[in-house]
Amino acid sequence: MASLSNLLHLIFWLYFVGHSSISVALQGLVSINGTAPIAETDNDFVCATIDWWPPEKCDYGTSVIFGLNALSGRKIGSDGSVIEAWNSSNAESLLRYTVNKGYPIYGWELGNELSGNGVGARISADQYAYDISQLQNLVQVIYKDFKVKPIVMAPGGFLDVNWYTEFLHKAPYSSLQAVSQHIYNLGPGVATDLVEKILNPSYLDGGLQMFSSLQNILKSSETSAVSWVSEAGGAWNSGHNHITNAFVFSFWYLDQLGMASKYDTKTYCRQSLIGGNYGLLNTNTFLPNPDYYSALLWHRLMGAKVLSTSFSGTNKIRAYAHCSKASQGITLLLINLDGNTTVHIQVSTGNAGSNGSLSMQEQNQTQRKKISRMASNNELLGIFRQEYHLTAKDGDLHSQTMLLNGVPLSVGSTAAIPDLEPEYNYQSNPIDVGPYSIVFAHMPNVTVPACK
Ligand SMILES: *[C@@H]1O[C@H](CO)[C@@H](O)[C@H](O)[C@H]1NC(C)=O
Ligand SMILES: *[C@@H]1O[C@H](CO)[C@@H](O)[C@H](O)[C@H]1NC(C)=O
Ligand SMILES: *[C@@H]1O[C@H](CO)[C@@H](O)[C@H](O)[C@H]1NC(C)=O
Ligand SMILES: *[C@@H]1O[C@H](CO)[C@@H](O)[C@H](O)[C@H]1NC(C)=O
Ligand SMILES: *[C@@H]1O[C@H](CO)[C@@H](O)[C@H](O)[C@H]1NC(C)=O
Ligand SMILES: *[C@@H]1O[C@H](CO)[C@@H](O)[C@H](O)[C@H]1NC(C)=O
Repeated sequence: MASLSNLLHLIFWLYFVGHSSISVALQGLVSINGTAPIAETDNDFVCATIDWWPPEKCDYGTSVIFGLNALSGRKIGSDGSVIEAWNSSNAESLLRYTVNKGYPIYGWELGNELSGNGVGARISADQYAYDISQLQNLVQVIYKDFKVKPIVMAPGGFLDVNWYTEFLHKAPYSSLQAVSQHIYNLGPGVATDLVEKILNPSYLDGGLQMFSSLQNILKSSETSAVSWVSEAGGAWNSGHNHITNAFVFSFWYLDQLGMASKYDTKTYCRQSLIGGNYGLLNTNTFLPNPDYYSALLWHRLMGAKVLSTSFSGTNKIRAYAHCSKASQGITLLLINLDGNTTVHIQVSTGNAGSNGSLSMQEQNQTQRKKISRMASNNELLGIFRQEYHLTAKDGDLHSQTMLLNGVPLSVGSTAAIPDLEPEYNYQSNPIDVGPYSIVFAHMPNVTVPACK
């Protein structure tokens, strides 16, 4: 790894195209320590919330989690505090109803934003620990004949280190399976600096705190619970039209998925599948927004095992690597927050695997297409990698149309999700990550011990 790093010259090319726009190229290096995974997500890491659905459309899939009202039967004091015990009778009716109907429920989450200072109301950690054990008891009784019982989650609030620490300390060991938090770290949807924040690497890094803190709390408590993000919309009050439902939001969303995975978050639920300005689907047409395709590519390509990954060259590149999902090798996620610079990225896995020859060749779209045609013979796959380059239509970050390898993603007249076809490139070539683009790169030929 050291020798490759020494070879890393930060080389700038300046091309003057026309009179106005400047495009810069620069080299970077992704270093992966593939000795052992640093974290592991659930296989169904990508999740989305839904507040409503047409009654005739109850077949969204098998993994359904319901939020239960933790304020049922309680009075809220003028200062927002809630003192009496939770009345679980309404929840009990719902649990029994779903069992009688034979509806499979993956989990039950108690409460919404009532931890710490709460939103509108708050419940002490001590009381919540008692409430959650009540819910777990109900689940144990009602599902007593089930081999696999639904998981119990709480509190679905904003991370308050003291509150969460006390809650986990006081909740009986197996009273909950997942500790959940909500994430809206960009501020209110009406804010005028959302795009600035999303494109600012330091601002994005600020989001690490929530994942690492929760991981530390879990490590230092005796709970068997794992960490979940049960709701994350980025910007509260419904997001911001043409930002949280546009191409630019994939920078924030995919970066969050990357960071959350590194800190052992098992599942990350996006607010929302549909609704507000932050839906994965367009609220009016039900057609996929850019983040839908980002989520789908993550789900198909990024496996559960997370690899320790660092990047050198520029702080505008965000780099993540996982073992590949359902195939050999590793998959990289590379996010370029810079609007002028193409970054040529070498990949090093230390001693294990890839040998990045420092080819300085640059591929344009035409050349990549040519290589792709040659690689259509699958037997050659070993020396090729698959690349998925995501960009905004017309370079407009506010566009709700995303391009995959230069082609707009759209469901067309049949309403079918398009095939997400990769381009192929030689493994030995650097990965060219264009300005304001996101690249998934599947490297089937890179084998590391962590992915065996
Ligand atoms: C890679 O990670 C392992 C632990 O999984 C560690 O022992 C080793 O020192 C790391 N290697 C490098 C080069 O950082
Ligand atoms: C809980 O709520 C149910 C239904 O509203 C009610 O019948 C019951 O008395 C309540 N229990 C307590 C302890 O308040
Ligand atoms: C690219 O660089 C030029 C010159 O520095 C600057 O005016 C322009 O805003 C930059 N464009 C983007 C998208 O960052
Ligand atoms: C790495 O690539 C260089 C240049 O292609 C080659 O000379 C070298 O033998 C390779 N090293 C390994 C370990 O494959
Ligand atoms: C791509 O590169 C090839 C070979 O260098 C060149 O002939 C072609 O004009 C380039 N295409 C574009 C769109 O820049
Ligand atoms: C890469 O893949 C090819 C074809 O599957 C295989 O023959 C070769 O040994 C692989 N190389 C490495 C370094 O894994």
